Amino acid sequence: MTRKALIRALPKAELHVHIEGTFEPELMFEIARRNGVSIPYPDVETLRRAYDFHNLQSFLDIYYAGASVLLYEQDFYDLATAYFARCRDDHVVHSEIFFDPQTHTARGVAFDTVLNGLTRACRDAETKWGIGSRLIMCFLRHLSEEDAFATLEQALPFKQHIIGVGLDSSEVGHPPSKFTRVFERARAEGFLAVAHAGEEGPPEYVYEALDLLKVSRIDHGVRAEEDDALMRRLIAEQMPLTVCPLSNLKLKVVSELTRHNLHRMLERGVLVTVNSDDPAYFGGYMNKNFTDVADALDLNENNIRMLCKNSFKASFLSDAEKEQWCRRVDECVLDAV
Ligand code: ADE
Ligand code: ZN
Repeated sequence: MTRKALIRALPKAELHVHIEGTFEPELMFEIARRNGVSIPYPDVETLRRAYDFHNLQSFLDIYYAGASVLLYEQDFYDLATAYFARCRDDHVVHSEIFFDPQTHTARGVAFDTVLNGLTRACRDAETKWGIGSRLIMCFLRHLSEEDAFATLEQALPFKQHIIGVGLDSSEVGHPPSKFTRVFERARAEGFLAVAHAGEEGPPEYVYEALDLLKVSRIDHGVRAEEDDALMRRLIAEQMPLTVCPLSNLKLKVVSELTRHNLHRMLERGVLVTVNSDDPAYFGGYMNKNFTDVADALDLNENNIRMLCKNSFKASFLSDAEKEQWCRRVDECVLDAV
């Protein structure tokens, strides 16, 4: 069995995907047309050609502009449903999905419009395709603490639909410590916590996410390798890192996939996972991330199996569900050889 066929066959969970980052240009043009909104690009091909980024900020500028055509509940439903269809194709059986409410509420779109569209899509994906999901609400770290607190207040009536809070957007200059009190309040309300740290930011931001925000996972975290004490801690605590290989390549966090540290970290015992981040912008969904990084780093069957099992271990599923999926990964590999 080829590497690609093995990756396709294995069940996996995605733990780091921004729903606004799954917005394919074709759907963007369709929704813009029906909403009577204009896009500053003449067609899909020209828009796709603009997806040439030199760092995180150059991507975020286009990503926020793209999200601005989303106005109605049906738009959010269609966006998430298109993503779930990709999950079905890639044998992603469970996804923990980020959404950025402030990107929408700042434009006058109500919080419940966003949430109702997404939750309806999650329910239908479970019914139609058996794909499980959870929603994680991210605070935009370039905005103020006060804005994040207001967003948290808006989310409280919808608590049963949101498993956790996250932290995303422009990292450098906006350390996790800026949001210590917001996360404290969110955790007191029962939300789990995750945060982007160590993507472009230094290892200190990873320490802050762990010690101040008390996160259950670090999103990206690839720069943690620069600090050996931090690496030893991540390994000892089995703190998951949700790594996104194609994102790191497109945003120039690594110059080439062959230089990615995923394999090194996996071999050292870090609980690393593979994810797509913003697949519509970075050139591929889950299986493309797996296949490209596996080819670049010459990952063997055992590495791939471990990455799939890690995706369940690092998830917010119950222990029983985690064990069941890990068993399925093992059985699937046995079938394959
Ligand atoms: N928002 C969407 N994708 C992101 C990323 N890779 N880093 C930070 N914020 C993001
Ligand atoms: Zn991300």
